[in-house]
Amino acid sequence: MTGPAAKEAVVAPLLSWFRRNARDLPWRRGYDPYHILVSEFMLQQTQMDRVVVYFLEWIRRFPTLKALARADEAEALKLWEGLGYYSRCRNLLAAARTIVETWNGRVPEDPASLMTLPGIGPYTAGAVSSIAYNRPVPAVDANARRVVSRLEARPFRNDRDVASFLAGIIPDDEPRSFNQALMELGALVCTAARPSCDVCPLNSACKGRSSGAIPLTPSAAVMRRPTRPAAAAVLFAGGKVFLRRRPDAGLWAGMSEFPWEETAPDESPESAARRAIAPFYEETGAVGVIGPVSHAFTGNRIRLTGVLLRLRPERETPESLARAHGRWVPLETLSDETLPAGSRKLRDLLLRDVNSRSHPEMTPEGV
Ligand code: ADE
Repeated sequence: MTGPAAKEAVVAPLLSWFRRNARDLPWRRGYDPYHILVSEFMLQQTQMDRVVVYFLEWIRRFPTLKALARADEAEALKLWEGLGYYSRCRNLLAAARTIVETWNGRVPEDPASLMTLPGIGPYTAGAVSSIAYNRPVPAVDANARRVVSRLEARPFRNDRDVASFLAGIIPDDEPRSFNQALMELGALVCTAARPSCDVCPLNSACKGRSSGAIPLTPSAAVMRRPTRPAAAAVLFAGGKVFLRRRPDAGLWAGMSEFPWEETAPDESPESAARRAIAPFYEETGAVGVIGPVSHAFTGNRIRLTGVLLRLRPERETPESLARAHGRWVPLETLSDETLPAGSRKLRDLLLRDVNSRSHPEMTPEGV
């Protein structure tokens, strides 16, 4: 079905469903372009429920685009902590600064201009342009892609292919609602694992449903990857713990973390933790274990055990050796650090233990 027929069978029922079922989201109250920009950056890789909480905190701290452009990156990262994929946060801050410098503080309207900003690809450009400014351009995220693939019961080559199908049916008068409705339907009704076809407003138009041509259960691609064991070194000396600095490029670029390594088959966590700190320090005694904690990132899943290690008491904390690769952070300020999820979970366990004195040797007075 294409053109006017698809429009008639899809657009009106979808918009009517959205009017009745749209979630009440904070950025849907006024459609402030800055709010839409922030929400779409956050939604790029995170579920809606979690995003709402972070969005509200973010807007409280940075109420306007100009306030964000003036922000300190460390403070922004701290607010982002827990959302993961931290390059989104850095890009959002860089985009805000560019918008202030180059666009007079106004979020650009058209997708081509939006795509010149850091962290904005075709999806986010389409989403901001249509949702913030009501422009009739498609926005193809995983939800929209799934709904359209099932509706049409044919494999689309790529998102551009999906976008050109949508360009033929997107209504000129309500692109904002149409795009959100499509994504919302994918998130709430036409879900990956268990679509609720009985309550779907598009069920009579859906070729996937009538032909059974599109699998309605998850494919092998959705299957979980196995969990791999790893160990982190929580190295203490002089009331401080050692954090390694990650490389400037790649996953968690430039962030600090407890040094960790995957555990080899038959290797103990203690041995893997020692390997993780071997480039920095050798002489240590293991004094305990925390965790394990589970931690998923970019398709990987890790079970991380924290091994508490101490530099030998006769040694001073060799700050100079550490400086090129990391930092020694006082226990008292460890909670202020922005850490990747695995290290953050271990840090939280550690501080809980320290406060309850389960590891007396680890208190600031004890080392
Ligand atoms: N509903 C579900 N996902 C959405 C998104 N990314 N933007 C707007 N509305 C949505």
